[in-house]
Amino acid sequence: MTLTKQNEPRVALVTGANKGIGREVARQLAVRGFRVVLGARRPEAGRKAAAELASGLDPRGAGGSVEFLEIDVADAASIARAAPQLATLVDHLDVLVNNAGIIEDGKATAPDIDAIAVRRTFETNTLGPLLVTEALLPLLRKAPGGARVVSVSSTCGSLAEMSTYAPAYSISKTALNAVTRQLAAGLRPDRIAVNSMCPGWVRTDMGGPNAPRSVEQGADTIVWLATEAPLSLTGQFLRDRQPIAW
Ligand SMILES: NC(=O)c1ccc[n+]([C@@H]2O[C@H](COP(=O)([O-])OP(=O)(O)OC[C@H]3O[C@@H](n4cnc5c(N)ncnc54)[C@H](OP(=O)(O)O)[C@@H]3O)[C@@H](O)[C@H]2O)c1
Repeated sequence: MTLTKQNEPRVALVTGANKGIGREVARQLAVRGFRVVLGARRPEAGRKAAAELASGLDPRGAGGSVEFLEIDVADAASIARAAPQLATLVDHLDVLVNNAGIIEDGKATAPDIDAIAVRRTFETNTLGPLLVTEALLPLLRKAPGGARVVSVSSTCGSLAEMSTYAPAYSISKTALNAVTRQLAAGLRPDRIAVNSMCPGWVRTDMGGPNAPRSVEQGADTIVWLATEAPLSLTGQFLRDRQPIAW
């Protein structure tokens, strides 16, 4: 069981956790004894996923729980409702996983760059993590042992490797990495580590059935950053637990 100094379970919020990589991260953190708040924009899907994960936990195991929180990361009003609601459930937040993400232009290639798709994708993939992190700073600052923010990015956003694939999605992840750098530098004095990571190509609704990685493999670096990685590791872009080129 994962305990704080006060002997209470550590608390984690995972956004977009009703399916895919987010759901697996929620499951792994709950199995490790975290009190997991499963964020989802669709209440029915979120409640169902939280109930399924909670019922799969060993009732004899110490700690570990999964609760649902409605949060649409592309909707500032939804974030503004979710933050105080979370504060009624928990008095601090040890881990925030900014996982929710969309890809609209997976079949597009530059120079076919649709500005509307760029704008919409930014709302979810870039501004979402920024606004959610800002809204939850009061709870993150209260984490007794320091807090960890993990933003699920993609190698598609790596400037070093970027070519023409899915421009709106790729550009949104580049900008997400810049959000990570800004927040990591600004929150270092508060003992809040902020990192970006790429899960690899993973079999989910987004990744499709031909992706080589399972959700367990995709979740590994996220869970490691959320639990075992040193708090001094901040402002990095990682894959397979190792820093990669921006
Ligand atoms: N799969 C891959 O190969 C791969 C590779 C690199 C990076 N990633 C990144 O990994 C993360 C998870 O992707 P995935 O493969 O697990 O995708 P997925 O199976 O499509 O799941 C995406 C999740 O994000 C949620 N979501 C989307 N927009 C949201 C919003 N505005 N507010 C709240 N939740 C929202 C979805 O909710 P709904 O069910 O309501 O749509 C769903 O729960 C994403 O950030 C993605 O960019 C994935």
